[in-house]
Amino acid sequence: MKKFLNTSELLKYGEEALRIIDQQYKQLEQQPIVPNVEPGFLRNILPKHPPYKPESLSTILEDTKRHILPNLTKWHHPNFYAYFPANTSHATFIADLLADINNAPGFTWVCSPAMTELENIVADWGVQMFGLPEKFLLKNTGGGVILSNVGESLFLTVHAAKIKKMKELGFTFADPQITKLVAYYTETGHVINARGLMLSGIPHKRVIPVHYTNKQFFIKPEDLQNMIEKDKKEGLIPFWCGTTVGATTAGCADPIKEIGQICRENKVWMNIDAAWAGASFVVPEYRDLYLQGSQDYNSIAINFAKWMMSGMSSSMTYFDDKESLNESLIRSDHNAEYLKNRYTDEYDITDYKNWQIGTGKRFHALKFWYIIRTFGIEGLQQNVTDKIELAKEFEKMVLSDERFELVAKRELSLVCFRLIRDKNGKVIPQDRLEESNRKLLNKINTGSRFYLVGAKLADIFFLRVVIGNHSTEKRNLEELWKHIQTCSSDF
Ligand SMILES: Cc1ncc(COP(=O)(O)O)c(C=O)c1O
Repeated sequence: MKKFLNTSELLKYGEEALRIIDQQYKQLEQQPIVPNVEPGFLRNILPKHPPYKPESLSTILEDTKRHILPNLTKWHHPNFYAYFPANTSHATFIADLLADINNAPGFTWVCSPAMTELENIVADWGVQMFGLPEKFLLKNTGGGVILSNVGESLFLTVHAAKIKKMKELGFTFADPQITKLVAYYTETGHVINARGLMLSGIPHKRVIPVHYTNKQFFIKPEDLQNMIEKDKKEGLIPFWCGTTVGATTAGCADPIKEIGQICRENKVWMNIDAAWAGASFVVPEYRDLYLQGSQDYNSIAINFAKWMMSGMSSSMTYFDDKESLNESLIRSDHNAEYLKNRYTDEYDITDYKNWQIGTGKRFHALKFWYIIRTFGIEGLQQNVTDKIELAKEFEKMVLSDERFELVAKRELSLVCFRLIRDKNGKVIPQDRLEESNRKLLNKINTGSRFYLVGAKLADIFFLRVVIGNHSTEKRNLEELWKHIQTCSSDF
């Protein structure tokens, strides 16, 4: 019978696995970004049934090298410019390995004391690093938690806001008044806003529209004010507003200060989705630019998996009112005997089961701790500013060719642009702009040497280049720009 822990195999194949990781990174640039395979390819290669007899790790690693690794999309490729980056680091790999030692689910403090306390500590470090209001520190009314993704985080902020509002109005959770709750979110927001509200069963949802003039996407705070006033007149109960800093489309930010003021005056919970752009708050200049010194938001999510090198999937979420979140989740445990322990009863500790949908969790705090320590705030700042500097270079390339225009101003390391003139220099008619740019996008991505996605906001379709990978250099951007110009030469 196979031993479940075999020291010589652990050391031999552990080393081999680390070598494979190293090679993968070294050979990235020669590999296609999106693999050339069709859906179902893996089912056609791998056996239809699980093996009855044990197989050797050496065979499994060989299969991984042959069939799995080449057929992953290379998010770390220097020419991957799509979506938002999902970067990682050697510190992440090492911390992830160590996190698996005890596989501690850490749902209560006693289930894994150091895991819980390390999460407390890195969450508080985050408040300091990102310059967030002190109310988000654990010793105050709030606190941070590492959730699996922004979707979970958004769903929980809606839940906490709902509890807070019901308490404020003196309703029980089963009160039919709950059907009068109304939520708002900006059109710049990710689809996750609509999902979170749908899964929470919120009956009334309003989308605050995005406007576009002078090459700028923007939200008018007065639109929210008018919506709230109208809803109140109709007997509805405004309770939650979702805003975004760093929209997945054009990277734009909602007017946090003004929306915050409206939310405060109307006792509406304000959430900020800063999944990508939140990493830039390590640089004081960007936190001041986007958060505008506001103290009015009640929750904020920063996805360390995007621009903070933590790998998937880890979204640091801060709540300024942990009671509203914790209390209802504790109640839903129905006094389960197996969750009881003397530390929970006797101490002021964090039981993370009261901060998330599932009870157990992965030890993500370890990799956050490794990342923050191996880079230091200085290194994290440089990770942001280096990518922004490269984006500025790319922005200059776009501006140097009058066949193209920037659709909006560059936000951090994201440049949004489109082709506006044909090969003869004639302006492409309005009704053909989208079609031409979609064709151009397909052409750029053909061959899998470069990878971009398009986006549409305020009915404008555009191409976007976001820089976030450590291996991207100016020469890669020069090659990309030459490629884009060549692809557009017969339009
Ligand atoms: C601004 C923003 N919010 C939310 C999400 C969704 O994040 P998740 O997949 O972690 O739920 C993304 C994903 O790219 C995003 O860019």
